[in-house]
Amino acid sequence: MANLLVLPGDGIGPEVTTQARRVLEAVASRHGLELSFEEDLIGGSSIDARGTPLADEALERARGSRGVLLGAVGGPKWDAMPVDVRPEKGLLRLRKELGLFANLRPAAVFPALVGASTLRREVVEGIDLLVVRELTGGIYFGEPRGEALVDGRREARNTMVYDEVEIARIARVAFEAARRRRQLVTSVHKANVLEVSQLWTTVVEEVAKEYDDVRLEHQLVDSMAMLLLKEPRRYDVVVTGNLFGDILSDEAAMITGSLGMLPSASLGEGGIGLYEPVHGSAPDIAGRDAANPLAAILSAAMLLEHSLDAPEAANAVRTAVAGVLDTGARTADLAAAGESSIGCCEMGDRVLAKLAAA
Ligand code: IPM
Ligand code: MN
Repeated sequence: MANLLVLPGDGIGPEVTTQARRVLEAVASRHGLELSFEEDLIGGSSIDARGTPLADEALERARGSRGVLLGAVGGPKWDAMPVDVRPEKGLLRLRKELGLFANLRPAAVFPALVGASTLRREVVEGIDLLVVRELTGGIYFGEPRGEALVDGRREARNTMVYDEVEIARIARVAFEAARRRRQLVTSVHKANVLEVSQLWTTVVEEVAKEYDDVRLEHQLVDSMAMLLLKEPRRYDVVVTGNLFGDILSDEAAMITGSLGMLPSASLGEGGIGLYEPVHGSAPDIAGRDAANPLAAILSAAMLLEHSLDAPEAANAVRTAVAGVLDTGARTADLAAAGESSIGCCEMGDRVLAKLAAA
């Protein structure tokens, strides 16, 4: 029996995780997997109920699970709060405490959605890249941090810091992934300005020596932001630090059609995986059955693959999603002007129907 923890979170999080859980339950019974589910609070909903964005008991539940399926955190209600008590802090604490240093964000374009991208068809067709984002270090966690009064002025600081062990282990994740893909790693940095990026580049080069079957190239983050728009199909595995990875993965998602499609897996050495859509809590559409559940459903597929060792079940989910898109079903974020759209539940229903028909 594999125990899974669902952390729906805020905004559209509960809506999309509900659909993802239904898909997991359906696929489990078809593929002989025994799953049990628990649910807990994270983010703003946890602040409201318990006064903290992630309670110790929720963290302990996560530690006791095989994998965590998370919706999204944050919203306008908590926007005025200081960073150390905000909803986002719950997610950051969860990642850090579980040691989930490797964040995998695959951005591939579904054939049916080529027209949904803001970029031209010939630029988008065939995009298949994997952003490997370092998730427990860099400027997100570096010390010192905080605001202080210096000479009568308010001053705030954050620190971007990586040590060689952190860099080497994320580089290895990227090279291993590239080995199973198209054997290209693009390391993204700002080594023309930042010492931390110079060390990053040096250590990635050292790790590359263990992988002579994989090609390594380096790219400055500003030009990478441009190249992702210009020739996204060129890229295979893109490895980068926490902040650059946050930014580039939203960009990568958007060029494939919609942020509503991109799943992610966060893995570490401990064996527990955290699976969450890359999109946020979308408070503007929350509670209206208007969200796209496919990123959450595809995150559930990543959970099947990485935490439950069930690649066939994972592929069944991906095939069902592609099949539903082929029929023309679109949530509002995917619909072209004038095209009709279906709601979050209906999209979940359609995926379940495809799974049942397979
Ligand atoms: C993401 C999100 C988070 C991040 C926020 C919610 C803390 O933007 O997963 O990309 O910055 O990592
Ligand atoms: Mn982000």
